[in-house]
Amino acid sequence: MSVPVVGPSGRQLPEGSIEVWLASLHGELDEVRHILSRDELDRASRYHFDRDRDRFAVGRALLRTLLEQYTGEPRECIRFAYGPYGKPRLATGSTTFNVSHSEDVALFAFSRGLEIGVDIEAAPSRPTDRDVAARFFSPLEAHTLFGLSLEQQSRAFLSCWTRKEAFIKARGEGLSLPLQDFDVTLAPGVSPALVRTAWSATEPADWLLFDISEDCPGCVAAVAVRAAHAVVSVRRLGSWAAGFEPRSLALCAPS
Ligand SMILES: CC(C)(COP(=O)(O)OP(=O)(O)OC[C@H]1O[C@@H](n2cnc3c(N)ncnc32)[C@H](O)[C@@H]1OP(=O)(O)O)[C@@H](O)C(=O)NCCC(=O)NCCS
Repeated sequence: MSVPVVGPSGRQLPEGSIEVWLASLHGELDEVRHILSRDELDRASRYHFDRDRDRFAVGRALLRTLLEQYTGEPRECIRFAYGPYGKPRLATGSTTFNVSHSEDVALFAFSRGLEIGVDIEAAPSRPTDRDVAARFFSPLEAHTLFGLSLEQQSRAFLSCWTRKEAFIKARGEGLSLPLQDFDVTLAPGVSPALVRTAWSATEPADWLLFDISEDCPGCVAAVAVRAAHAVVSVRRLGSWAAGFEPRSLALCAPS
């Protein structure tokens, strides 16, 4: 059994670098409970379906294990704090992260100090739901989408969805940020970008959007970052079942 190696513990991310990990959420709570905090175990116990419980637990164990590599903090000692709309962050330190899952895959994005958001959606085989687009997208986005050919629409729908979601996740405000109040690009061949916000004429220039779908087979995925320049790299984790074996637990500082 091998422990996944993602770099030396405590490795500092270069400024402007965003490292994204694509991982499978296969596994079970019992394989990872020694890594999780009491509140995470409580939350796991509240899931109605075992599959959702296991995916949450494995996701948190992966997040902790990856964060250990960036912070040098033993994974079971890492403490999270939560923003007013539930965005998790590290209680201490400058590493920032965001997580997204879709079915049994997850994306974990990390940076040094940048405001980042990530979203992944499994690409559907069904046609675009016009009602959903009309309800969730801005008028410009819906107009652009419905001007595309039917073949282009389902991909463009998910490009728009993931870019909008990555942006609201980077800001951490969840759906308290009205989805009609900002526009992103979505048409094929047009670079990912935030093009308008209703609250500021200058804010779009503060943000970069990246489409990382090519690195996420069968999915559409996006990263948003508040920065003038950033480099995104995506890595894929292999099987993680082997990475969770118990080791001697660290003595964590009292919180
Ligand atoms: C909660 C929300 C932030 C993301 O939800 P989601 O798309 O269902 O889920 P994702 O898998 O992408 O992200 C969930 C993860 O985001 C993180 N998260 C939770 N609240 C967050 C917030 N306010 N901001 C950023 N990240 C947040 C958590 O790590 C969470 O994982 P966890 O539950 O394992 O801790 C929010 O944007 C939401 O409710 N979206 C609903 C979907 C929607 O209508 N989208 C419209 C797009 S056009």
